[in-house]
Amino acid sequence: MSVVRESFGFLPDGTEIFKYKIENGNEMQVHVLTLGATLQSLIVKDKNGTPRDVLLGFDTVEGYLSSSDYQGATVGPVANRISEGELPLNGKVYALVKNEKNRLCLHSNGEFTFAVWKAIVVDADCVEFSYVSPDGVGGFPGELKTTVTFRLDEDNALHIKYDAVSDRDTYINLTNHAYFNLNGYDGGAILDHVISISSDAITAVDEYSIPTGEIRDVSGTPFDFRIEKSIGRDIETDDEQLRIGGGYDHNYCIRNWDKTLRKCACVRSDETEINMNIYTDLPGVQFYVGNFLDGRAGKAGKAMQKRSGFCLETQFYPDTPHRPEFPSCLYKAGERFESETVYEFFTGEGN
Ligand code: GLA
Repeated sequence: MSVVRESFGFLPDGTEIFKYKIENGNEMQVHVLTLGATLQSLIVKDKNGTPRDVLLGFDTVEGYLSSSDYQGATVGPVANRISEGELPLNGKVYALVKNEKNRLCLHSNGEFTFAVWKAIVVDADCVEFSYVSPDGVGGFPGELKTTVTFRLDEDNALHIKYDAVSDRDTYINLTNHAYFNLNGYDGGAILDHVISISSDAITAVDEYSIPTGEIRDVSGTPFDFRIEKSIGRDIETDDEQLRIGGGYDHNYCIRNWDKTLRKCACVRSDETEINMNIYTDLPGVQFYVGNFLDGRAGKAGKAMQKRSGFCLETQFYPDTPHRPEFPSCLYKAGERFESETVYEFFTGEGN
């Protein structure tokens, strides 16, 4: 196990951005940037023992600064969409930045994603990133102290632990927005990847991808991944929800959620035989298949085409502040948000 720090470049104001590389005894590597506490690379071996970087992203600071894809980034204080860009709390309504369609707030307008985080090497397998967001940033109440730790174990699992506490009551919903391609960042479309999701229902959305409140059973719909199938098998079905998202871009309600860490999805590529299991202790996971990727050049100048990466963003449901019936992500002043997501890798023909 080792951690190595190197320069990744500079912000326009001269701030240096660092990359921390954690490597385990199997030569698996995790690279994380101080810009956005961003997962920049995840290098795992394929069926032939060849290392593959299974994350989309960029080689440069400029790449990350000019992107609106939230590539690999930590997202917060509240991930996903908040309708009308309004945050109702304790009888007041806080105005947020309406960064999508001039109508709603998506991913807190990148407040955490474009922040520069402090990093500390905690151990030979673990780096902690911290950021203090001032009261009122992006409209969100409360000074929020957040730490995100990335730990790689010897079983090829990356553990991301979130811890956040505010000095005022506020909403907290942190996630990571990694785009995976288990054939490698230059591996083409992810439509042949096979996935299962431990969920019986999605939060159905309106035309703006805001939950309507309906928890919709996936039975008999293209959203049913209870039994594994390829991402692409049903993606072109004529379905209202698929039309709205331009493909899958929906929150799945995790079966039997009880706040403990549980497996929520398994994905594999038959080409590389790289498998990934995802675990979370949160109630939801946004399955997004890169419908809005537009061919921008990423690592090594390779184009990141539509559907060349998929995301599994562990989270509280979208627009939770407007939905008292959803599991709550309201935290009292001094109350800790604590959560863990695990991405576990192995090779072979299936789970
Ligand atoms: C999220 C959303 C998508 C898209 C991406 C960023 O996952 O659900 O609709 O906005 O972020 O491009």
